[in-house]
Order: sequence, then C-alpha cells, then structure tokens
Amino acid sequence: MEKSISRNIKSKSRVENFGEVFTPDWMVKKMLEQPEIKAKTESLTATFLESAAGEGAFLVEILKRKLYVADQESTDAKEFGEKCLIALTSLYGIELLEDNIVMLVMNMVSEFNNVYIETINRKYNEKADEHVLDSAKIIIRANMVQGDALKRQRRNGDPIIITEWELLPIKRGIRKIQRTEYTFDAIIEGNGPTGTVQQRYAEQLDLDLFSEEENKSLKLPSGDVEVECHYVPVKLTDIYKQLIEID
Ligand SMILES: C[S@@+](CC[C@H](N)C(=O)[O-])C[C@H]1O[C@@H](n2cnc3c(N)ncnc32)[C@H](O)[C@@H]1O
Repeated sequence: MEKSISRNIKSKSRVENFGEVFTPDWMVKKMLEQPEIKAKTESLTATFLESAAGEGAFLVEILKRKLYVADQESTDAKEFGEKCLIALTSLYGIELLEDNIVMLVMNMVSEFNNVYIETINRKYNEKADEHVLDSAKIIIRANMVQGDALKRQRRNGDPIIITEWELLPIKRGIRKIQRTEYTFDAIIEGNGPTGTVQQRYAEQLDLDLFSEEENKSLKLPSGDVEVECHYVPVKLTDIYKQLIEID
C-alpha cells in the first residue's frame, strides 16, 4: 500500500486512476466567494450536486455556510432545526471510492451535528432535538451516493438514485416535505420519478456506517422493491420515520 504523499493526494496511483486530488480549504473558500456561487450558498434551498465529491471539501463548506444562514433566519429552536434540515436537503454528492464516501458521509454528519447542537445549546439554551439529528442522518444517507457519475450507476450496475425533497405549502401552521426518488439518468434526461421506493441505503451506499436499528428503519412492503409505492409527506422532523404507502 502506498503511503499518503500529501494532504491533497493519497497516492500517485489514485491520482492516475481516479483523478483524485483534494481541493485545499483556502481554494474551496475562494471559489465559494465568487458572487454567483456565494449567492446560492446563502439560499437554504439552492441545490448543489457534486458529482466527484471526494471527502466533501466543497459540500461540507457549503453546508457550514447554509447552516449559518439557517441560524440568521431563525427566531426559535424549532424553526432553526427545520431550517437546518431544509438546507441539508439541497446538498447532493456522488463519489466512486468507498473510503472517500465513508469520509464524505461522516464529515457531513459531523458538520451538521456540531453546528446544530452547539447553536441550540448556546443560543436557545435547549437540548438538541433527537428527531432533527435522526432526520439529518437519513437525508445525508439518501443524498450522498456511492457510484460512477459518468456511467450513472452504482458498483453493482443498478442505477444511481437521486432523492427529491419537495417542500409543500404550509397547512394549518405545519410544513411538510414530499420525498420522491428519480434515477440519475431520469434527472439528466428530464424524465419522471421511479414510481417505486428503490433506495435501500445500505445497498446504495455499500457501507456499514449506521447501526442495525438505523438500517432497519426503512420499512419496505414485504421487502419488495418493485411494488408501486411512495413516501408519505411528513413534517421535516419526521423524515427519520421513512413512512411509505403502497399506491
Ligand atoms: C479531483 S478529486 C475532487 C474531490 C473533491 N471534489 C475535492 O475537491 O476535494 C475527484 C474525485 O472524484 C472521484 N471520481 C473519479 N471518477 C469518478 C466517477 N466516475 N464518478 C464519481 N466519482 C468519481 C474520485 O474518487 C475523487 O474523489
């Protein structure tokens, strides 16, 4: 095994085979300061998809900036939690290599948790809402995908699934979110959703980052992925429940 030769390069062969060179922090910050990009990082809902995401140099910095906006725009702990989750639903990453996607997911979870918990404690003198933390994990697991962005496939040949999180109009003071799955192909070709719930995180991510309990939390009808079904619209803090309805 080759030794790591710099902070931005893991090995010569990885650079040659996968073009793997990580962007240094100062350059990420400089690029995100470009006016058109900066404006998007200051919007909770502007979407970013990084199709060669590495360990998340860009996505983690964008998340940090969006969480700051969530903080600025919130007046209480509940609103802050919801805005943090809205910000998170706008960030997507695809990465080919397993060790990188592990780091990407861990870096996103850790950035979210650190900022959310610290702000809730310091600014609102409250304890973190576990449902916000659990829902954040589900969003990150859905939006950070291990696969080949050029072939639009996962390692086993299945299509890469991209999750849409649509904010529904507020009804009786409650804002719900509708989760829908598309293949990456369908998004690029402008086609419709899959019509089924395809995504099983452990499979799409090929990872064992989450506990058995968390992996079991997605309850598909009889384990059949072909049946026509959809996610039920839920409150943002109920995303973790992953409720599914058969059509
Ligand atoms: C130049 S690095 C950039 C990483 C990160 N965006 C950054 O700025 O630090 C390119 C990344 O793309 C990944 N990669 C290479 N080919 C890919 C493919 N076909 N699909 C998805 N990711 C790929 C590599 O593993 C590597 O992590």
